Amino acid sequence: MNMYSDVVEIAKRRGFFWPSFSIYGGFSGLYDYGPLGVLLKDNIINKWKKAYLDEGAIFIDTPNITPGEVFDASGHLSRFSDIAAECDSCKSKFKIENVLAFNKIEIIPKSVDEALSISEKNNLKCPVCGNIIKKIYNYNLMFKLENSNFYLRPETAQGIFVNFKLLSNYYRGKLPMAVAQLGKGFRNEISPRQSLIRLREFSQGEVEVFFDPENEYWKDLFDYDEITLKPNTGVEYKTSIKNAFENRIIDNIAMAYFILKTQKILNDIGFKNDNIRFRQHDPDERAHYASDSWDAEARIDDDWVEIVGIANRTNYDLKNHDAKSSERMSLKINNRDVIPNVIEPSYGIDRITLALMVQSYHKNEKGYNVLSFKPEMAPYHFAVLPLIKKENFIKKSMEIYNMIMSIDSYVYYDETGSIGKRYSRQDEIGTPFCITIDYETLENDSVTVRFRDTGNQERIDKKDLLDYLSGKLK
Ligand code: GAP
Repeated sequence: MNMYSDVVEIAKRRGFFWPSFSIYGGFSGLYDYGPLGVLLKDNIINKWKKAYLDEGAIFIDTPNITPGEVFDASGHLSRFSDIAAECDSCKSKFKIENVLAFNKIEIIPKSVDEALSISEKNNLKCPVCGNIIKKIYNYNLMFKLENSNFYLRPETAQGIFVNFKLLSNYYRGKLPMAVAQLGKGFRNEISPRQSLIRLREFSQGEVEVFFDPENEYWKDLFDYDEITLKPNTGVEYKTSIKNAFENRIIDNIAMAYFILKTQKILNDIGFKNDNIRFRQHDPDERAHYASDSWDAEARIDDDWVEIVGIANRTNYDLKNHDAKSSERMSLKINNRDVIPNVIEPSYGIDRITLALMVQSYHKNEKGYNVLSFKPEMAPYHFAVLPLIKKENFIKKSMEIYNMIMSIDSYVYYDETGSIGKRYSRQDEIGTPFCITIDYETLENDSVTVRFRDTGNQERIDKKDLLDYLSGKLK
């Protein structure tokens, strides 16, 4: 079953997400969230936020528009680029990897010169028109604002690094200090594709964890939870994070701790461990600022897709801002001047949303679509449905609807179509509980509660309903 395509179809038809500006022909890499997508995305963000607030993280919010000086220091101006190949005939632009794969060449070049020499030896053909590709160059992924020295930020992280000193004063100089930011990142991707997977504008929940590398704060916090790891030196296997650290598969204690924390957050959002894994980057795959990186990947059909990147940024960013800005980024710790190290778990909210939808999707025994979100994650938690569209049923339904709204939840009301159709509509958008107002409700003030995943129903007295439903969201 091609779950990804089914989900993209449901997403558009039912109002989760769709391509932006389609009345003007559509522009790849830009997506709108519809009414249900907005609610689902918020639920994901809230889980992420609560998990880091519980960790003691502090949150900030900084501008999307960022001066060039910041990206000069961070290395993004000179190094945040992909190698691009462009066809002179049809003008199509590709990442070099895609052209090489099309031409069945397995080497991945590390520089433009290496790519040019591969191209000359192999007469690389354009995947679209078949002509020989000659133009190969470094393509910076940042959007520059015209007539200015401003850029749209490609990651939210720099807004945190440049504020390190103010934040550290706020936090009274304590380490470790975790600072989080939710915001948009912008990348002029060479080939935006696959709906929410490769966007030009996307939402990131980033956390920069500043720590003194000589102190092992997290050492007593491990447990034996099982985790699937794919180190760059070997095959995928299951182990405990404690074993992985003790055997130096993961050689940094903060990295080990935040890999485990990421798994727990993803579990809390609704991902099952069989459908996620942590893959270590090959050395030539890492971003320019990283000494080690592990991606949380989610299964989408037969592929593994990165949804969270966890990087060891050492003190690369703070050191460079220390050297190029007016601020000193070191702290005095036990008479040592320390520029803290950083582990950065960076959550791609759009990819998490899409992957969660794919992993929650299945067809029920009647062949209808169901999105089996965890109850608290669903866009709507409850739907109130009068059995028939008559005044006394509608009046009673409104009474129940207003009553349920007092629970911290979102409630849908629907009186249109047969009851079977309305149940199916709610299953397809993931509503876990439907409350039906039927003939018996009018006689004895009880309702039926129907469960999305089994289709079973239970009769509940109205006086017990609030307690009963609140219990279902815990
Ligand atoms: N500050 C580190 C950083 O930005 P990244 O691995 O490039 O690291 C982090 O991005 C996460 O952001 C990724 O795991 C992915 O989920 C998401 N992301 C990155 N580029 C994206 C794009 N073009 N479209 C959608 N999500 C993207």
